[in-house]
Amino acid sequence: MSAKRIVIGSDHGGFDQKESLKSWLVSQGHSVKDMGPENTASVDYPDYAHTAAKLVKQEEADFGILVCGTGLGMAIAANKVAGIRAVPVTSVEFAQLSREHNDANVICLSGRFVDDATNKNIVSTFIGSDFEGERHARRIAKLEQI
Ligand code: RB5
Repeated sequence: MSAKRIVIGSDHGGFDQKESLKSWLVSQGHSVKDMGPENTASVDYPDYAHTAAKLVKQEEADFGILVCGTGLGMAIAANKVAGIRAVPVTSVEFAQLSREHNDANVICLSGRFVDDATNKNIVSTFIGSDFEGERHARRIAKLEQI
């Protein structure tokens, strides 16, 4: 897999896994920009989703990875940014399909309900899978019109 430019962020519910994912991704040769937070103090997930999603939209990162307690709030927030296709993912299969069919550019993970090893498998699959285009490209174009 080619090296990717990744932006990562979390809230307190995802902080530990964000730190673990960051060092693991760097060890795999990817570049990782960490938008924070820097500790487990309680913070608001929309702040981190917004700053990370903006970097993906500006094409300063290939993918965004956001971790909160469930992944749900991060996805809701990131999808407010036009051009962002953020998906909350809890399985390797959905990680693959979200890239192949939805051209997802931000993955949102659960730090409380999915273990660290599973989330690493999910991320590895996500960044290693390609958009299939064709009929899916037509659907993505329609998403951009909404
Ligand atoms: C924070 O307690 C929690 O609500 C947050 O991490 C996330 O799960 C929201 O969707």
